[in-house]
Amino acid sequence: MKRRQHPSKILFFFIVVPLVLLAGLAVYVVKPFFFSPTPADVRYVSVCETTCPETHFPYQDPSLSTEERTTDLMQRMTNAEKIGQMALIEKNSIKDSADIAKYGLGALMSGGGAKPDENTPEGWLHMVTAFQRVSQRTRLGIPLFYGVDANHGHSNVPGAALFPHAIGLAASNDPALVRKVAIATAEEVAATGMNWVYSPNLDVAQDMRWGRAYETFGSDPKRVGTLGRASVEGLQSVLQNDSRIAASAKHYVGNGSTEWGSSTNIHFSMDQGNSKISEAELRRMHLEPFKQAIEADVKSVMVGLNKWNGEKIVFHTYLLTDVLKQELGFKGFVVSDWYGVYENEWDRYHALVKAINAGVDMVMLPFDYAYFSESMHHALANGDISQTRVDDAVYRILRAKFETGIFDHALPEVVEEGRIGSLEHRELARMAVQKSLVLLKNENTLPLSKKTPHILVAGSAADNIGKQSGGWTVEWQGIDGNWIPGSTMLKGIQDAVSPSTKVEYDLAAHFNDLQGLADIGIAVVGEKPYAEGWGDDAHPTLSLEDRETIARLKKQSRKIVVVIVSGRPLDITADAKDWNAVVAAWLPGSEGAGVADGLFGNVPFTGTLPVEWALN
Ligand code: BGC
Ligand code: BGC
Repeated sequence: MKRRQHPSKILFFFIVVPLVLLAGLAVYVVKPFFFSPTPADVRYVSVCETTCPETHFPYQDPSLSTEERTTDLMQRMTNAEKIGQMALIEKNSIKDSADIAKYGLGALMSGGGAKPDENTPEGWLHMVTAFQRVSQRTRLGIPLFYGVDANHGHSNVPGAALFPHAIGLAASNDPALVRKVAIATAEEVAATGMNWVYSPNLDVAQDMRWGRAYETFGSDPKRVGTLGRASVEGLQSVLQNDSRIAASAKHYVGNGSTEWGSSTNIHFSMDQGNSKISEAELRRMHLEPFKQAIEADVKSVMVGLNKWNGEKIVFHTYLLTDVLKQELGFKGFVVSDWYGVYENEWDRYHALVKAINAGVDMVMLPFDYAYFSESMHHALANGDISQTRVDDAVYRILRAKFETGIFDHALPEVVEEGRIGSLEHRELARMAVQKSLVLLKNENTLPLSKKTPHILVAGSAADNIGKQSGGWTVEWQGIDGNWIPGSTMLKGIQDAVSPSTKVEYDLAAHFNDLQGLADIGIAVVGEKPYAEGWGDDAHPTLSLEDRETIARLKKQSRKIVVVIVSGRPLDITADAKDWNAVVAAWLPGSEGAGVADGLFGNVPFTGTLPVEWALN
């Protein structure tokens, strides 16, 4: 016979115990929100109302060593000033620009497409200059880091020279070229007053369904390491006007091995996901490139939004402190990624405590700095975060600021004529495009004769600078059309051929009054721009539209050349056998004419695949 539970026992186990547990949990989570508010004189930074009195502190003296300067500045700082240095805010989240001084903020940024009101190089310079001026209205006048994603040139700024995305540069496998591209990028960034970029991307992409594969130098850790190092060297080199910018190696670590379906973002599949790999594999595949970046003295490392065996990297003391800082000897500062400390965390206070204690030095909040400041004051006051940890974080950030020279170099007053998208940079970009081309298939077709009598050109990417530039171009998710300067592939073809050649173009290959077959049909097809998890794709392939265009073009031409514009290998196994030649052009950027240089033999095809691409 079943024994019946006494009703009071039921009450106890099913109601009282859960209630007590819940109440305990609530107190734990909510307690920090009842922090006795930090008094204003402790919480805020001392601001000079009009102009600050001139000071002559040792840290302002460029003849002293970086160590002497950093130490001198540190010993003058209040905790409010230190906490401010650890905050990175997206410029659109600054409620009142006076807050930059009030909270002594250390760094601002533009996310993809976060542009100034006037989206011109001058507009960017004015915006950054105005923010820096506010930072100078503080007792210690510590300048801001202003960070931006300059993934393939200074790509938020219309008019900049846009280089091939990393996957294309990787196909060149040419470190000297990558270094030059990085220097040109740094020059354009510095010309608009910014001093920090969120590149290079050192993820080692293992699965081409990932929407960020094109931001990487491919799937071979050696290639990623060599090119990543060249990129760091170029980005951080001393520029013509004697200024420098800081680079950020990202995303530490293992981001390229996340599993399909493991993303914690409901819109994504792989991005922001989990990698299930052994430590040996993590080290062999993903750590190597970071070692090289550290040897090249990279000033910052950005922590990924990913997990390793179920644990978020941003909370991973072993990876951030033991491996990165101690074992690899990283002397720069660790910055978290976009909202990465708080994402999916219902207990934000303890998430912050965990991340800082794990080794994060600067938090890309990127929104609520008032809450961050209050939490940090509270955590320091009650010992959740030690003074030593905060001092280490701030020391790292300030040292990077001194090393980059931003205390000593005034911002440019105007954007020097010809600096942005200069002819020189465009020529370099065109050369980079030439070297990035990979000849996937060629049945006695390429190079084409410049005297070919009749050429048809078609396809969604033939006449579209937006498409050929991919994501992270003016907008986070890229743009459509020909409204930024550059050359399309169609233009390149038209310019390459002899005066006697007839080139006809129709996007969808409806050439209605053709008489007989054309000699050559060139289809330029591929992916629409995307960024991050929005590009996660279970089966990257050509669109039905593109395939129909190619089929139409084939019927109207003796031979057909297909140029694929994409961030990754597309599955073309069903169709490629019908095509005479196939060229992978990746995402070439603004100088599409470089593709025609390859097609018409101005340069040989020298690119090699940085990732696997099966044709059958
Ligand atoms: C991306 C980073 C990027 C940052 C700032 C994040 O979502 O993961 O790669 O640097 O945003 O735009
Ligand atoms: C920003 C990007 C950022 C992304 C993260 C976007 O709104 O523009 O820079 O990487 O959010 O989710």
